[in-house]
Amino acid sequence: MNKEVDINELLKELSLSEKIGQLQQLASQFYIKDSEGELTGPLKDLGISEEKIWVSGSVLGVKDAEEARRIQDKYLDRSSTKIPLLFMADIIHGYRTIFPIPLAIGCTWNLNNAELCGQVSAKEAALSGVHVTFSPMVDLVRDPRWGRVMESTGEDTYLNSVFGKAFVKGYQGDLSSNYNIASCVKHFAAYGAVEAGREYNTVDLSDRQLKEYYLPSYESSIDEGAKMVMTSFNTIHGVPASGSKYLMRDILRDNFQFDGVVISDWGAVGELQVHGVAADDEEVAETAISAGVDVEMMTSCYINNLENLVKEGRVQEELIDEAVLRILQLKKDLGLFSDPYRGMDGNKAKQMFMCNEHKEAVRKVARESIVLLKNDNVLPLSKDKKVAVIGPKGDSTDLLGGWSWQGRKEKITTLKENLINEIGNNLISYAEGCDINGHDESGFEEAVNVAKEADVVILALGESSEMSGEGGSRAYIGLPGVQERLAEEILRLNKPTVVLLFSGRPLEITNLSKKAPAIIEAWFPGTEGGSAITEVLYGDFNPSGRLTMSFPYATGQIPVYYNCYNTGRPKTANTAETRYVSQFIDIPNEPLYPFGYGLSYTQFQYKDFTLSSNKMTKDDKITASVTVKNIGDRKGTETVQFYIRDLVGSTVRPVKELKGFKRIELEPQEELKVEFVITEEMLRYYNIDCELVSELGDFHAMVGCNSADTYTEKFTLL
Ligand code: NOJ
Repeated sequence: MNKEVDINELLKELSLSEKIGQLQQLASQFYIKDSEGELTGPLKDLGISEEKIWVSGSVLGVKDAEEARRIQDKYLDRSSTKIPLLFMADIIHGYRTIFPIPLAIGCTWNLNNAELCGQVSAKEAALSGVHVTFSPMVDLVRDPRWGRVMESTGEDTYLNSVFGKAFVKGYQGDLSSNYNIASCVKHFAAYGAVEAGREYNTVDLSDRQLKEYYLPSYESSIDEGAKMVMTSFNTIHGVPASGSKYLMRDILRDNFQFDGVVISDWGAVGELQVHGVAADDEEVAETAISAGVDVEMMTSCYINNLENLVKEGRVQEELIDEAVLRILQLKKDLGLFSDPYRGMDGNKAKQMFMCNEHKEAVRKVARESIVLLKNDNVLPLSKDKKVAVIGPKGDSTDLLGGWSWQGRKEKITTLKENLINEIGNNLISYAEGCDINGHDESGFEEAVNVAKEADVVILALGESSEMSGEGGSRAYIGLPGVQERLAEEILRLNKPTVVLLFSGRPLEITNLSKKAPAIIEAWFPGTEGGSAITEVLYGDFNPSGRLTMSFPYATGQIPVYYNCYNTGRPKTANTAETRYVSQFIDIPNEPLYPFGYGLSYTQFQYKDFTLSSNKMTKDDKITASVTVKNIGDRKGTETVQFYIRDLVGSTVRPVKELKGFKRIELEPQEELKVEFVITEEMLRYYNIDCELVSELGDFHAMVGCNSADTYTEKFTLL
């Protein structure tokens, strides 16, 4: 078969069962185990016959190029169709060379970093036999109890939309190169809104919320050309996403004009029965294929039932044909018909893994993702000071974070080792103090003694990788175990102390933030995290990360996000003493650290915020400009953020919404005029009739260094 294969002709040659086979995705273990005969264990549980393995269309998670090649070889030998298998995998923030987690990449506010992550990951993955990555995850997230916030770029629709595009661009390019792979946007839809942040839980949103806040990021990734979409586990409007015609046919196909492949999440088709919208496997298959799932991942309702359902007239064969054609088209786009071994090159992959170029790429992104949350004259550190590294993260190789299954922890240089490389063994001492999640305080005494001997203390605290990611919901999102107690003991010494946090989510650190003189959020920084942090600690790199998810003041405040509604009784300076306003009586309404927040070792001054006009018609544009000056004595990068508020709408509008941002680098005393162009399109929203339109009236344009610290000018849309 060659590249010019006519997929419509090919479809005609396939039997119904061969077509249905294309809709099945199986884990690689099915193919590795086959020659030994019988399937056992969980594989047997899937209830799929040996013969069906050889008509299945795609494979999930191959170990390396050699394995992929072996599986493809054996498959092409045994399959009746000779249509190459597609290999898919979760390459989320790097393949072997691991970038910071996506939430951290978001905090760089630098789209080139997402593209770079996509490119580097795609190259290593393609050489290892992967054709499609289940990334980007563009779910809007407002609840840090949910472990999967680490996979998202945060709480803002606009930011997630532009980051989604950048990831897709990085992975796919134009797919003509064997170093690119196809991208699968997930999880469609609104998985980030699971109630209470509990994994796999219910989502119930109004259509307005869904359309305005949750859907745009999927749409923009699709507009960028993402080849696949993955359904989510949750229900929405009372229907599981993997059985929702509304989501897949009305929105995805009709509104977004998506013509690529829709895959279910792992087991999500079979789970339609558990949700209680289908009585048995037959009904499950009928529901999912009718709703629009093309590929069933890791349950076997299609392959075991669709043939009968077609014979009984319950499912139209055309539905199956459509789905198969989309899969064949993807195989063709990837060039698999001319080269089923596309890209697979184990030796070259090994040369690329952790090569200098890739390490430099991940280090660059890691540096930019680090967020300085507090600094009372402690940072940057001076290289001649004795440093005590205290805490379970200080000498830990657990820096990669969730979804880094191909990463190699044993290759990680820990923070302590990096610090030794930087300032020498003599100046560094270390005590673990306690472990991540235990209750044993017996190490505190040693830790306090080690800290006493030092000039400065670095308290390296946080979560383990397993505490976030899939299945990583937490009800208490403070520091786990006795780490906060350890911090209290150390902070009592009143030494210059930097709390260095490693986490897959915003943590509740309000008490700590009152006591610690300096706090850095390092997230899970990836393969080169230790050295990136060292550069920040010593000022070789001036921190520039800005939060893309609010840090709650208390867990009971969640969800807390910047683009909320005003309410009818907002708390203001004038109403602060009143009981009957929208507030908590025990904590502030504001988060501890707001969206967009982050400090630098220099300061930036904002001045002369002006609009080119205070009026515009729908065809006009207004230019908003502000001058930003570096008034400190170090070079630094500022992220200038631009927000808009629609003051009166046919439905209520958020108090502000991000509409643009610019990262600028300024030398000491240098200033720059930054401009944002306001267009009518920027002012559109889902009105009272749920139509995307702009409404005439007054708006606020706001510019500032974070969502809570902005300058305002008014304009009118005429
Ligand atoms: C389940 C996860 O929800 C999804 O994100 C992932 O891509 C699949 N498993 C495949 O591993």
